Amino acid sequence: MTANKEIKTIGVLTSGGDAPGMNAAIRAVVRRGLSRGINMKGIKKGYSGLLNEEIIDMTAVNVSDTIQKGGTILQTARCTEMRTPEGQQRAADVCRKHDIDALVVIGGDGSFAGAQKLANLGINTVGVPGTIDLDIACSEYTIGFDTAVNTAMEAIDKVRDTSTSHERVSIIEVMGRNAGYLALWCGIANGAEDVLLPEKYDYDEQKIINNIIDNRKKGKKHHIIINAEGIGHSEAMAKRIEAATGIETRATILGHMQRGGTPTCKDRVYASIMGAKAVDVLLEGKTKRVICYRDGEYIDMDINEALAMKKTISEYQFEVSYSLSHNYSKNPR
Ligand code: ADP
Ligand code: F6P
Repeated sequence: MTANKEIKTIGVLTSGGDAPGMNAAIRAVVRRGLSRGINMKGIKKGYSGLLNEEIIDMTAVNVSDTIQKGGTILQTARCTEMRTPEGQQRAADVCRKHDIDALVVIGGDGSFAGAQKLANLGINTVGVPGTIDLDIACSEYTIGFDTAVNTAMEAIDKVRDTSTSHERVSIIEVMGRNAGYLALWCGIANGAEDVLLPEKYDYDEQKIINNIIDNRKKGKKHHIIINAEGIGHSEAMAKRIEAATGIETRATILGHMQRGGTPTCKDRVYASIMGAKAVDVLLEGKTKRVICYRDGEYIDMDINEALAMKKTISEYQFEVSYSLSHNYSKNPR
């Protein structure tokens, strides 16, 4: 799919939940564009700011001292109006009014759907995957996941210290919307006794209770259960488990702290490369694309194809996580 006119001005926005590394991506888009002689505009607060015409000129200095910062300097929003055909038409009209020939949208699947609609209305768009949830099917990496999973891992280690001291069961709920990637990675990284994923949960709480009782008999002093947000109800689960086992059980919901903080090296580097590539793709004359990381390469892909793809938890990774925590002594090789 090629762009329909010469690109003189590129806009960039961040949309959906913020993610550490988004600033590195914005910086890369702006500086790559400027280096290619393009006028760069920043749109504040996602599609909501686009509809309200909160549009600013971006210079190299605007993005200075931002690569190490969490959040997004352009801010972000969820915008209901953009889901309607009227909102989408108005957003395309605003782009034309401000001479924005092309738009880089940094966000998740929902944000990409908005970019797809704008592209259908003649605005050249490229999506850059930005979400802590890692739930974008076309890409093995999404901006922010690495920082968020490290933040969650460190927090869970801390909960584990106190859980062991008090010989408690701890249920720790991590974000991820309907996806279990953060939970699975924490399950492996924190050596959790149980990991509950929306993709795998069989709703058999008795199995968890039996596992806690077995582990206690073996002398384990803690029991860490990582519960994905997509399952939720951690407080109620804690009450039921305490009643069934007689062991003090606490729930900790990590919440939005997982979305903040200084981005890791990986998030800064991958986001920088993806941001630069988004500009290159537009200047190659392509539109309706998304940038992905697959098999060790940064590539671009058709947005319709990308949005139609499905992704799920690896059976092997889940099985490894399970086997390292359950009855391992019964299965010697
Ligand atoms: P994410 O981009 O992280 O998946 P959301 O699903 O909240 O986050 O989407 C971000 C924004 O993208 C929404 O608030 C809305 O403005 C826009 N969006 C989401 N879905 C669509 C859609 N189907 N059509 C047009 N715009 C959409
Ligand atoms: O998509 C990122 C995410 O943090 C999800 O993990 C979570 O479900 C959601 O956003 C929370 O959104 P909000 O900040 O709007 O409550």
